[in-house]
Amino acid sequence: MRGAVVTGAGRGVGKLVAKMLVQRGYTVLVTDVDEATATATAAEIGAAARVLDVRDHEAVEAARDDIVARAGRLDVWVNNAGVLVTGPAWEQDAATRRLMIEVNTLGTINGTVAAIEAMRGHGGGHVVNIVSLAGITAVAGEAVYAASKHAAIGFSLSTLADLRMAGVRDVDISCICPDGIWTPMLYDKLDDPSAALSFSGTLLQPADIAAAVARVLDRPRPVVTVPKWRGALARFGDVFPRFGLRAIPLMVAQGRRNQRRSAR
Ligand SMILES: NC(=O)c1ccc[n+]([C@@H]2O[C@H](COP(=O)([O-])OP(=O)(O)OC[C@H]3O[C@@H](n4cnc5c(N)ncnc54)[C@H](O)[C@@H]3O)[C@@H](O)[C@H]2O)c1
Repeated sequence: MRGAVVTGAGRGVGKLVAKMLVQRGYTVLVTDVDEATATATAAEIGAAARVLDVRDHEAVEAARDDIVARAGRLDVWVNNAGVLVTGPAWEQDAATRRLMIEVNTLGTINGTVAAIEAMRGHGGGHVVNIVSLAGITAVAGEAVYAASKHAAIGFSLSTLADLRMAGVRDVDISCICPDGIWTPMLYDKLDDPSAALSFSGTLLQPADIAAAVARVLDRPRPVVTVPKWRGALARFGDVFPRFGLRAIPLMVAQGRRNQRRSAR
């Protein structure tokens, strides 16, 4: 049997990723900090459920051991759990800033390390990290979130390099960096000017991300942006930050228009 774990899989992107993995024949462990959604999703898609707060590395290791006990091995680990609280960093309290860094960055580190321990020397595997375009470039209104996602990419690529330097070729790490996705993360942000950049492109659907994960499982890539052209734009803004910073007000205005249109 092939084993897979998805974090934050009770709803949104994680739910669709877990469903895709079940359809591909994996034995899937749906994990989430929210027990009710984890249980409901697992029952709906034909997977097992487990409560997991990705900030707790011992609990992450226990989830890893759980899937190995169920499936005999771990093939795929998807670090998907994430939180977004918008607003300038100086308007957020310390607990809010810490939450985003701990869930989005530390959670990804905890999951990746736990997964590597089970994959390395045991037939290999693939860690897929759901990051964001906010991991590539500046995002006004989402500064701490962007910091947490930049850190997740830096960690993922560096760890991939460490694996290769250690001669490990059968463990892959791929980062998926999507534009805004219509999930509960954005449902309450149609009136939020700080979230405008999340709406500045064409909103994706969770199934688009599940399809992107399926593609990297077939063909591992260190970083994949969804859609590609927005990724190219984000990267351009990152290489030329003065250009990127000047473009942000225009993109925020576009995002506000899209928010108002979606709210109708
Ligand atoms: N929605 C977007 O616009 C967007 C865009 C780019 C990237 N992303 C990323 O995609 C991923 C999935 O987000 P989503 O849009 O489905 O959001 P969502 O809010 O619908 O789902 C996030 C899930 O993570 C879970 N979670 C939160 N804290 C957790 C913790 N400490 N431990 C375990 N689980 C926890 C939540 O309970 C929820 O089920 C996140 O990493 C997010 O940052 C989202």
